[in-house]
Amino acid sequence: VEDRTKAFQQMFPTAKAYKSHMEVLADLDNLKPDAAYICIPPYAHDDYSEIGFIEKGLALYVEKPMALDMGFAAKVRNKIMQYNAVTSVGFQLRYLSFLDEAKRFIEKYNPATVYANRIGGLPGVYWFDLYDMSGGQLVEQNIHTVDMLRYMFGDVKRVYGVAGNTYIKKANYDIDDHSTCLMTFKSGVTVTVNTGCYIPPKKKSEGLNLNVETSTPAPNYNHLMMISDQAVGQCNYFSSFKEWISTGESNEYVDKSDCGVTADRTFINAVKAKDPNMVKSPYRDAYKTLQTVLAANESFKTGKVIEL
Ligand SMILES: NC(=O)c1ccc[n+]([C@@H]2O[C@H](COP(=O)([O-])OP(=O)(O)OC[C@H]3O[C@@H](n4cnc5c(N)ncnc54)[C@H](O)[C@@H]3O)[C@@H](O)[C@H]2O)c1
Repeated sequence: VEDRTKAFQQMFPTAKAYKSHMEVLADLDNLKPDAAYICIPPYAHDDYSEIGFIEKGLALYVEKPMALDMGFAAKVRNKIMQYNAVTSVGFQLRYLSFLDEAKRFIEKYNPATVYANRIGGLPGVYWFDLYDMSGGQLVEQNIHTVDMLRYMFGDVKRVYGVAGNTYIKKANYDIDDHSTCLMTFKSGVTVTVNTGCYIPPKKKSEGLNLNVETSTPAPNYNHLMMISDQAVGQCNYFSSFKEWISTGESNEYVDKSDCGVTADRTFINAVKAKDPNMVKSPYRDAYKTLQTVLAANESFKTGKVIEL
């Protein structure tokens, strides 16, 4: 922590460093900030990390996943609503402009079958590998995909999933390395979410992927594909939306912007305007995404279908 603090202070020499959020809370009356960013690992949230700041009237940017337990998330959500606080959760993919094209595609072609894959490697922080600290890959990482799905298709009604640890054998590792989850949305759309963290980085960069031809809508590692009787649409999570229409027409919409910066800028503008509705993923909405992935975890564990 001290190394990181020093590095940060070199970038921002006027910044004041603290060893814990309790020290920051105790100094808030001197600091008088407008907002706090909470970027701690999922297991580390406690009764002071969010609620302490909201009660002092601050706006909050909270990194996903905001908790590993819905009881805690509900307490934070209720406090946010009581204070009408401006909040944003780090689902920055919502700000990719090609999602507007994807939404237009959904309205026009009404796809009812969706496949979403995120198969990659381990992110490299020790706590990710431990279930009690991270909640596993769907909760910690692929929650981005589930949030993107909710942004496009609305809320989820039912979840069922299976998961396994097949490929990764190492010490201090107890999460599943692959899972498949079936989600039925309230709208009737059915989605399969495949999640995996077993691809070694070297293989990934060598191009081990499932694309048959780059010009056809075949599955690859990080994408979401929607299919109807007239068209196929594919979101490549970080870069583009492509559509193939039965008439033979195809279009591609690319966004090269840094959606993290757009998410930050939107949050700051919302704080200035004191308007919680300017943000695309306020805590109260992100809460439902968290509920969906934690329900999937419950299904992995119990083998049951979970109704939300
Ligand atoms: N939105 C995104 O795309 C995105 C990208 C990366 C990380 N994240 C999220 O950000 C969070 C942190 O991830 P990371 O990769 O930065 O983790 P990290 O382990 O690299 O850093 C976490 C930091 O939090 C500090 N910390 C831990 N417990 C604390 C506590 N109780 N109080 C204050 N500080 C504490 C640690 O000392 C460390 O400096 C995770 O929830 C992760 O999912 C989101």
